[in-house]
Amino acid sequence: MHKDIAKILISEEEIAKRSKELGEQISKDYADKAPVFVALLKGSIPFIAELIKYCTIDDMEIDFMAVSSYEGGVESNHNVKIIKDLDRDIFGADVLVVEDIVDTGLTLKKVLKLMHDKGAKSVKVVSLLNKKERREIDIEADYVGFEIPNEFVVGFGLDYQERYRQLPYVGILKNEVYSKE
Ligand code: PRP
Repeated sequence: MHKDIAKILISEEEIAKRSKELGEQISKDYADKAPVFVALLKGSIPFIAELIKYCTIDDMEIDFMAVSSYEGGVESNHNVKIIKDLDRDIFGADVLVVEDIVDTGLTLKKVLKLMHDKGAKSVKVVSLLNKKERREIDIEADYVGFEIPNEFVVGFGLDYQERYRQLPYVGILKNEVYSKE
């Protein structure tokens, strides 16, 4: 275990097992469709890589998007900036947004609006983690890997100051790592 991790919350094996279950469920639900999986950079990279191993949908595609949020915008709908846009047009497509974590829910709300504005036929969300205690708006992912407590978690894509994304598990960061700033 990494020296800065206090405890492994979700092991590599548990992530693989749950990703398989989610992949199989999503494959059933989208069996007769041609979904576009939209992974939000950067945190969702390990999860989408794991998830698609278990997806058996012939006509699926993957694409990537990076957004950044502004705080204090006049209108909440307009305060998301696209850092990297999708490569393909999703007008009329069945979109599955792939997230590593839903926390306050603000990012998801903005991204869902963006997808609808781009003319997606349907938009659903799969998130590896759900930190419900921190939610500020009433929004839920359609598929959730794990419910987690309100702890500072890193690994499997999640970072603290861009570090720890490469860890193969989700772990709780030691308090002294982020409190010494
Ligand atoms: C993280 C995470 C989600 C979002 C969740 O992204 O990947 O997209 O925050 O938080 P919220 O529900 O409170 O909006 P971040 O902006 O840190 O980017 P990253 O994926 O590049 O780390």
